[in-house]
Amino acid sequence: MFGKGVRAVDHLDLDINDGEFMVLVGPSGCGKTTALRMLAGLEEATEGDIMIGETRVNDVPPKDRDIAMVFQNYALYPHMTVYDNIAFGLRLRELGGFFWQLTHMAEAKKIKADIDARVRETAQMLSIEHLLERLPKELSGGQRQRVALGRAIVRKPKVFLMDEPLSNLDAKLRIQTRAELIRLHRRLGVTTIYVTHDQVEAMTMGQRIAVMSNGLLQQCDEPTRVYNEPANKFVAGFIGAPPMNFVEGVIKDGWVEAGPVRVKLKDGHPAIALNGQAVTFGIRPEDIYHAEGNVSIPVSEANTFEAHLDVLEKLGAEDTAYLMVGDQPMIATLDPAHPVAVGSTAKFAFDLDRIHIFHGEDGVAVR
Ligand SMILES: Nc1ncnc2c1ncn2[C@@H]1O[C@H](COP(=O)(O)OP(=O)(O)OP(=O)(O)O)[C@@H](O)[C@H]1O
Ligand SMILES: [Mg+2]
Repeated sequence: MFGKGVRAVDHLDLDINDGEFMVLVGPSGCGKTTALRMLAGLEEATEGDIMIGETRVNDVPPKDRDIAMVFQNYALYPHMTVYDNIAFGLRLRELGGFFWQLTHMAEAKKIKADIDARVRETAQMLSIEHLLERLPKELSGGQRQRVALGRAIVRKPKVFLMDEPLSNLDAKLRIQTRAELIRLHRRLGVTTIYVTHDQVEAMTMGQRIAVMSNGLLQQCDEPTRVYNEPANKFVAGFIGAPPMNFVEGVIKDGWVEAGPVRVKLKDGHPAIALNGQAVTFGIRPEDIYHAEGNVSIPVSEANTFEAHLDVLEKLGAEDTAYLMVGDQPMIATLDPAHPVAVGSTAKFAFDLDRIHIFHGEDGVAVR
């Protein structure tokens, strides 16, 4: 709770397993950074418990939580080389002061050698070994970001907190570093909480992902589960690109009636019981097929509709089609092997096993 009544994170109830890679994802301003800062001890939680292992850490100062955080707005020490930036925390933690070092020369030497090995190993992991002697101002944004990562990794903490650590990298480097981080996690096995607003990053990196909106946890599950069984309309629309299509409608005698879109619910579908109630019908673009092509799903009156193909984006492996169903826009991912001409009207079909129905009132998935 911030002053002025801002409740940035509301009852975030999240159990993260030991050694897990958990991704916290949500739109800008939903409270991701605040949640991480509370874990790190940089922000106080107004209520609730924050536990690391068996220990309640609400009152443990940040430096004693054995957490390494990579900040969204990280800062490197400008007057130190990359090497010293990475080594700094370790030296502070593991080496005594000047006089201690004088009186414990052999021990200090051993620690220094160990620090040196760790710095070099980390730099190699992040492909920055050739930059160790440079100053931050002599690096690109992406290189600086990797140094900031290195500073956290080198400490081998109990928990990593990473706040959009790849945001400054270009597309190629981001994908590369993404894979690097996954490999790193597999190797070190350190519990990691990774924040991003990028749902692709969330899907590809997370062992589980926690979707947040407006300070509230919406769903926490394995990526495929979140994708295939979104808990509500927000999650359904947030995860997946191009996004899920939504059409407002009502349930009537086993059908979803949504203007020009009519879908017969399969026998036993729980939404059949909502006769007369308002619902949102949801379908992902890849679950719409050109019904006149060679489709892998059964096609009948129960799942077909006619649409005008407005715009077609050819992406190579697939086509993204912008359809108009009456005055209802809809996006479909189509197989280029069965093309539909732009400007023509054709029959399309929904995969009835992959439709989503949400309660009209609160958007909660009907199960
Ligand atoms: N110190 C503060 N005082 C008051 N309100 C704050 C403070 N810090 C953050 N907030 C508010 O809390 C909410 C959550 O902010 P937070 O930084 O956690 O969002 P975020 O999910 O990390 O967003 P982004 O993706 O843009 O980084 C926002 O509405 C923000 O304006
Ligand atoms: Mg943030």
